[in-house]
Amino acid sequence: MAHVYARPHHMLQTEEEVLDIVEDDPSTSTREIARQVKDRTIQFLNVGVGKTMVLSMDRWVGKVAVVTGASSGIGAAIAEQLVEEGLEVVALARRKERLDQLAKKLEGKKGKLYPIKTDVSKEEDILNAFKWIKENLGPVHVLVNNAGIVGNTNLSDGDSNVWRNIINVNVLGLSIATREAVRDMKANNVDGHIIHINSVVGHQLINAPNLNVYPATKYAVTALAETLRLELNSTKSKIKITSLSPGLVDTELIPDDYKQLDIFQKAFNDKAVLDPQDIADGVVYALSTPPHVQYFVVIIYVLRNTMVLSMDRWVGKAAVVTGASSGIGAAIAEQLVEEGLKVVGLARRKERLDQLAKKLEDGDSNVWRNIINVNVLGLSIATREAVRDMKANNVDGHIIHINSIVGHQLINAPDLNVYPATKYAVTALAETLRLELNSAKSKIKITSLSPGLVDTEIIREDIKNLEIVQKAYTEKAILDPRDIADGVIYALSTPPHVQIQELTIRTVIEFF
Ligand SMILES: NC(=O)c1ccc[n+]([C@@H]2O[C@H](COP(=O)([O-])OP(=O)(O)OC[C@H]3O[C@@H](n4cnc5c(N)ncnc54)[C@H](OP(=O)(O)O)[C@@H]3O)[C@@H](O)[C@H]2O)c1
Repeated sequence: MAHVYARPHHMLQTEEEVLDIVEDDPSTSTREIARQVKDRTIQFLNVGVGKTMVLSMDRWVGKVAVVTGASSGIGAAIAEQLVEEGLEVVALARRKERLDQLAKKLEGKKGKLYPIKTDVSKEEDILNAFKWIKENLGPVHVLVNNAGIVGNTNLSDGDSNVWRNIINVNVLGLSIATREAVRDMKANNVDGHIIHINSVVGHQLINAPNLNVYPATKYAVTALAETLRLELNSTKSKIKITSLSPGLVDTELIPDDYKQLDIFQKAFNDKAVLDPQDIADGVVYALSTPPHVQYFVVIIYVLRNTMVLSMDRWVGKAAVVTGASSGIGAAIAEQLVEEGLKVVGLARRKERLDQLAKKLEDGDSNVWRNIINVNVLGLSIATREAVRDMKANNVDGHIIHINSIVGHQLINAPDLNVYPATKYAVTALAETLRLELNSAKSKIKITSLSPGLVDTEIIREDIKNLEIVQKAYTEKAILDPRDIADGVIYALSTPPHVQIQELTIRTVIEFF
């Protein structure tokens, strides 16, 4: 049965016509429907047949989730939220009394909290916790590796016991818990989800004293998440892995002497810190994505305000979407219209990109110039105009660059010529703009959203013929433009103080 998702008021009279067309041929494209009913606006109607791209926590209700370091801060907020969502949450930490208090507070909620005293720097403790879960609750579906510590010493003259402890908790404990969870998921045929609570310092250092091995352990977490993703991918496992990297969060982790430092005082004075609830929202979002979608998220702060995920503040506002005539851009435009925005779609009917297939070594510089003009210069000019307009009108707006996974790491596909270079440039442009806006204390947000392979017209015929891409299509290891539109909506829905800096969306199984 056909299902029409969007029904903006002015389209109601055409709805029946649309349903008729879809009933006749469910595969009719929205553009074709628009042509048939002679209504240009209808191209934003999203007609889906038997397709569910809905964000939902339903499949986790009644399932077991393990949260390490659940006795305070981010871990406690995540555990609480998961219990509210109806999961059976096993909470691990050393301070059992804190866990017991949380369990008591959550009595009568949809799910339940099970406290287990565990020191994740001790392998035996972790093994015992998983054994207890196996014997008493059943298969693990979700693991949130949140336990983490800092230590007050330095590298040049520091105390190696402090280093050892940080490494044991942040790296080894996380790896052991992950192994146990993956073993359990595989043994029970569970397509589960592992979430590592990483940090922005797992991607880039900040100039703060006495961080010693902490950033190194978070860099290790970045590598561990990606290594596990590749490992799971090589065995075609559908277990998901998400690395979630918060900026500064107001928790007990931040030592008091840090709070005296100028940069931290400023952050706290200006309320430029995240709340643990913001991170719990990110976890729920990652868990809510459809089974084929994989998220890597970097969350940082702008300024504190309300904490509800909501699109309300964008309703009736203008949004500009470039490249909106097909694929990802069209899906984003549709979704934004569904959410009540006035969408200005910019596009020129693209030239067939198959004509652009040219190698770097003997390529046509006009082709390169064209790609660079669209992907880098066009993006920069549109961004400048939008930021100027936002500033002139005092609008705390949001710029979203649709980047690519090849903007971070190359893939082994032929004839991509300057395309990855332009996406690397987009990565740098997003970060440069963020720093620029930040230095002016602007509340305009900037998000770089990097999809993997998406089924759109940008995939040239010769690329489609590649074995790895054919495999991806046969095994449906390919994203739908709507998955990317969902990511845009998530980034836009975050509260004004929360910045989704980088959102990587890939399929759970990949072939390149
Ligand atoms: N706060 C931030 O600005 C920030 C920013 C980015 C990333 N993070 C990351 O977020 C995670 C949570 O930190 P938080 O800010 O919420 O700090 P927090 O309030 O200090 O919480 C840390 C949690 O880890 C647990 N933990 C520490 N050592 C443990 C051990 N040996 N065994 C078991 N549990 C242990 C603690 O429980 P017990 O002491 O009861 O064992 C506590 O529940 C960490 O991975 C941290 O690196 C924090």
